[in-house]
Amino acid sequence: MNIKNKTYKSIVSGIGASLPQEVVTNKDLSMRMDTSEEWIEERTGIKERRIASKGETTSSLGTDAAQIAIDNSGLKNSDIDLIILATATPDNTFPASATLIQSSLGIERGYAYDMQAVCSGFVFAVEAADNAIKAGNIKNALVIGSETFSRILDWDDRATCVLFGDGAGAMVLSASSEDTNRGVLSNHLHSDGRYKDLLYVDGGPSTTNNVGYLRMDGKGVFKHAVQNLSSAIIEAIEYNNIAIEDIDWFVPHQANIRILEAVSKKVGLSRDKVIITVDKHANTSAASIPLALYDAVQKDKIKKGDLVLLEAMGGGFSWGSTLIRW
Ligand code: UT7
Repeated sequence: MNIKNKTYKSIVSGIGASLPQEVVTNKDLSMRMDTSEEWIEERTGIKERRIASKGETTSSLGTDAAQIAIDNSGLKNSDIDLIILATATPDNTFPASATLIQSSLGIERGYAYDMQAVCSGFVFAVEAADNAIKAGNIKNALVIGSETFSRILDWDDRATCVLFGDGAGAMVLSASSEDTNRGVLSNHLHSDGRYKDLLYVDGGPSTTNNVGYLRMDGKGVFKHAVQNLSSAIIEAIEYNNIAIEDIDWFVPHQANIRILEAVSKKVGLSRDKVIITVDKHANTSAASIPLALYDAVQKDKIKKGDLVLLEAMGGGFSWGSTLIRW
């Protein structure tokens, strides 16, 4: 079918999520290392996180989330033309874990690849899928964020290992040529590699031959996160010629409640419009936004027609926003 001669919008048609079985609370961690329930919750807002067990991988969690999203969209697995998996913790260096998910879903056509923009990966992947739809190249895209950060944490470094968790979320974007105000309205992406030393993994195939561990200058990242997330919100509202009050829901990358509070204060957004799941998921990198979206849809917060702003910031640095009329 030639769909090239029409103008298309990317409509959210399905959403899904999947979490590992094992819940690890702050109390659990305080019994394993020199930390306390109070320190973790006061500094970050995190109360618990899920940790993948042996049989759970980025691709298995991603497959489960994807299947829920496809079922939710009413499509068949074979309707999916493109799979983009945002992850910094692939099952293997290659092939792309997106192809493992493709095959687990029984999909034998279309194309699949991984997107590496760490915590901003989901927003970067939405932009790529949206462009493929708008170009008329594909009809249905599966955008997944799935991570097993527990496997790249240094469990002897209390300053980082208490902050992260594992999980996956997925969204189906479908082409629509109808005259509707729904769909992805804007994407704004940024990277600045000068800050690579503030948040990185100290290994990799081309340097150390191993996977390495996550390293972070928490205070340095915090400062830039507040600045970059605030400017990403202002950029999106100015581009779309709307006021901050017009946005129904903010769905930020879930790294730290204090970052979200500082950003809310800086740009003047109401706290009750911010979706917060960091308390139960911790920082799940590229999975945090779709996990939060799924949670908000399940709780009947985000509804069809709502204006929803996604925003993320992470290693690189990379950051950006996506505005969606749900
Ligand atoms: O997703 C990518 C983006 N990542 C982020 O956005 C993370 C951004 N950064 C942060 O969220 C915060 O900076 C942290 C939560 C990582 C740290 O909070 P902080 O208020 O910046 O604390 P800090 O690093 O200044 O550490 C304060 C104290 C230190 O002790 P001293 O030097 O004051 O005696 C640390 O050794 O807290 C100590 N500390 C801990 N204590 C108990 C560090 N980790 C722990 C711990 N338990 N787990």
